[in-house]
Amino acid sequence: MKVYSIPRVFVPKKWDLAGLHGISDATLEMHFGLYEGYVKNTNLLNERLAEIRERGNAAGTDPTYADLVRGLGFEYNGMRLHELYFDNMTKRSEPVGSSRLSKALGEAYGGFDEWKNDFLAVAGMRGVGWAIAYYDTTTLEITNHWINDHENGHIAGSVPIVVLDVWEHAFIKDYKPADKDKYIEAFFANLDWKACEARLPLPSVKMSHSST
Ligand SMILES: [Fe+2]
Repeated sequence: MKVYSIPRVFVPKKWDLAGLHGISDATLEMHFGLYEGYVKNTNLLNERLAEIRERGNAAGTDPTYADLVRGLGFEYNGMRLHELYFDNMTKRSEPVGSSRLSKALGEAYGGFDEWKNDFLAVAGMRGVGWAIAYYDTTTLEITNHWINDHENGHIAGSVPIVVLDVWEHAFIKDYKPADKDKYIEAFFANLDWKACEARLPLPSVKMSHSST
């Protein structure tokens, strides 16, 4: 008889971000609530999937199994991406300067400013989703990507370095839809570059453009 483990229960994280530049406390409160919904739904889906496995009905005999597994991709990523997003913001943002991170971000684009311009272009795209600068563990470079919803477009095996929520709920209380660029500007003003750098795997990405 197969033994299935009890599903892990995720607990919502908390952040002390009140007072951010250009992102209101009201937006944050609403956004934390949405995030907690993803945590709740991830736990619920894991519970229901465990019940189906327990009954031995996972392999095609329970028609809801596939839908629940697909739904988990949305809820789980919704939970995790929001954690990465809130984790990479701070009330006390410091300039990225000439850090290991700024060099790594510029590697594939010819420079930090070029990387940032491209990230802004990705984040400014129409639709709801996420802009993510991913460290590709195969190329050892960071490249910018658009994620549709929460689950479509991730780069397999890669590490998210800079994570920006560009769903409308992230800024609609503070800016008009046409002013999304102002929200993105505010995000950069609050960006915790140190938290992003801590995500960068060691050893450092290749530095073919570096003078050292
Ligand atoms: Fe969000």
